[in-house]
Amino acid sequence: MSRPRILLTGAQGQVGYELARLLPAHGDVVATDRATLDLAQPDAIVAVMREVRPDLVVNAGAYTAVDAAERDPAAAFAVNAHAPQILADEAKRSGALLLHYSTDYVFDGSATTPYDEDAPAAPLNVYGRSRLDGERAIAASGARALVMRTSWVYGLRGRNFLSTIRRLAAERDELKIVADQTGTPNWARTLALATADIVAQGLPYLFERAGLYHFSSTGATTWHGFATAIIGDAQKPRVTPITTAEYPTPARRPAYGVLATTRFRDAFGYELPPWRAALAACLVAGPDE
Ligand SMILES: NC(=O)c1ccc[n+]([C@@H]2O[C@H](COP(=O)([O-])OP(=O)(O)OC[C@H]3O[C@@H](n4cnc5c(N)ncnc54)[C@H](OP(=O)(O)O)[C@@H]3O)[C@@H](O)[C@H]2O)c1
Repeated sequence: MSRPRILLTGAQGQVGYELARLLPAHGDVVATDRATLDLAQPDAIVAVMREVRPDLVVNAGAYTAVDAAERDPAAAFAVNAHAPQILADEAKRSGALLLHYSTDYVFDGSATTPYDEDAPAAPLNVYGRSRLDGERAIAASGARALVMRTSWVYGLRGRNFLSTIRRLAAERDELKIVADQTGTPNWARTLALATADIVAQGLPYLFERAGLYHFSSTGATTWHGFATAIIGDAQKPRVTPITTAEYPTPARRPAYGVLATTRFRDAFGYELPPWRAALAACLVAGPDE
């Protein structure tokens, strides 16, 4: 089996950084970041796709600033909707496979049991709408694609909920954390490892499984529960539950975003670890182990 040529976008992001370290075991990887491929530049995407001629495109680049997207929808749609459309059109043209990530924020959060892939999407904010447009553009392109919706991504690099809680824990005696939004935290490395595992099975295996998947650790918690788990046994700070109404943000967020992962398990034969196990592994790992 020849090694696939893999184009990776967003290689400085939480998931993209981990993928840039893992994917070279399974193919010849061209890893791009904002400096080498600006996903807001359609011509640049076309040029890179035609120069690299990838067999597989892993699109880990995304506009993930949920609140900032409310002020600048054009920027969010350029990266989250238009860029995937161009990647998909180019993939269709060349016969490449596109592996793309999306989000639980495509849902409105009115459910009380885990969302499956066929549940109606109804995003509450600009970020969710831009990601849903990206999913739809990929579907409309006719390209073969794996679209992996995930949620609440954290890691040991950059700014995310885990790093924010750790920083605030060192500064404050009390943290007030929203306790009425339920979802599933996902360690970026868990997502990258699972992605690399399926890429390792080879392109025919991936092509056969093209489709939309919920791709997440199992279990569920609230942001308050997540913060409490991050703080662990430390005496300080106290983690106090508050409501979403007490912590207003520019973007509305779904109250419930747990993803049912049965389809992924059935197609790929395994589950991602429970979120608490992934968090425990993360807390003892180094950023570059
Ligand atoms: N983060 C979450 O909580 C979350 C939740 C659900 C789903 N997801 C999805 O999971 C995937 C991976 O997320 P992540 O947490 O790894 O995101 P991330 O850490 O924000 O990484 C995204 C990367 O894309 C880059 N990017 C943004 N605009 C770009 C542009 N115009 N051109 C090139 N690169 C650009 C970012 O660069 P800059 O840092 O320079 O902007 C960043 O390095 C995304 O599809 C995301 O939507 C994430």
